Amino acid sequence: MLGLLNEKINGTSSQRGTRKLSAKAIRFRAASLFSGIGGFDLGLERAGFDITFQCELNKFCRTILKHRWPEIQCHENIKELTRDAIPVSDVWAGGFPCQDVSLARMGTRAGLKGKRSGLFHEFARLIGEGRPRVVLLENVAGLLSSHGGRDFGVVIGTLAEFGYSVGWRVFNSKNFGVPQSRQRVYIVGCHRDIHGPGKILFEAERGEGNFEKSESNGKAPLSPFKTSIGDHDGNGPVYQSIAYCLYACSARHTGTDWSRTYVPYPKKGKVRRLTPKECEGIMGFPSDWTVPPAGKFQQDDIDSLRYHALGNAVTPPVAEWIAHRIYDYLVEAKKVTA
Ligand SMILES: C[S@@+](CC[C@H](N)C(=O)[O-])C[C@H]1O[C@@H](n2cnc3c(N)ncnc32)[C@H](O)[C@@H]1O
Repeated sequence: MLGLLNEKINGTSSQRGTRKLSAKAIRFRAASLFSGIGGFDLGLERAGFDITFQCELNKFCRTILKHRWPEIQCHENIKELTRDAIPVSDVWAGGFPCQDVSLARMGTRAGLKGKRSGLFHEFARLIGEGRPRVVLLENVAGLLSSHGGRDFGVVIGTLAEFGYSVGWRVFNSKNFGVPQSRQRVYIVGCHRDIHGPGKILFEAERGEGNFEKSESNGKAPLSPFKTSIGDHDGNGPVYQSIAYCLYACSARHTGTDWSRTYVPYPKKGKVRRLTPKECEGIMGFPSDWTVPPAGKFQQDDIDSLRYHALGNAVTPPVAEWIAHRIYDYLVEAKKVTA
């Protein structure tokens, strides 16, 4: 049955930008808000969640969501969303807009009083009414310092008032197989369970030192991004043939920042932009994920729409790692209450 569903969703093997469904027998349900192009949704789905609902204002993002999840209802504006419109779901996930808490913006930060990051309060209103078992929020690490930490206190305090135990952790996408240094804070709230966020966000298990020996000259590469070129006999310089990862500090590589990232051609001293497809790879999305159906947008506009949407997104591999741990947490909770 699942195989059939995969086939139906994925289409032919030549079709790009496909979703991979988990084969897990127990299914949980997840709704996404501020869904963008579905970074959280992809991660959740791969970990065994069925997506029940999406909410996104931006027309381009909504088109991608509809293209990739034709079966899911997508609401437009969170301000006009009522709790009843969201199907009962175990998890609600959303990365609310970061512009007003981002360190990348010059000048004072409006923080949660800002028009965009202030949309957290709309998310909070719905959480207060719906009280799902688990909430998962994401934002730039600048949220931790906005207004001297008071904005973060508001986020945590608001969730706590609704009965959530809350934990948070800053993850860097480069540690999840994504060739980009992208730090974001992930906040997990578990309704009336003080141990939940810790179990989800922090590993009790510990590694046994280095898994693989490597040398700085790349003789034994740690990852495919660390292959090296040059004189390995010690008589000349050795370079990594591709940079290990690109750097997306704080809110950099949000919005259109990707379109301003240049890579050099090996010869002739020329540079070029990363292509949108390369940006998909750098974000950990399937290739061509952000290609809209033909005729929906002016051809000249499509690249910048793709850069913008990708720059704002959650990297699916990080979302997937957290989603697996939420899944395990829900399975364990089921056993305990059964
Ligand atoms: C940080 S991005 C989240 C991206 C998403 N997590 C992803 O993986 O693509 C915030 C999203 O909130 C959307 N947004 C802004 N205002 C909104 C509103 N009033 N209602 C619904 N979505 C809104 C933006 O268009 C943007 O896509």
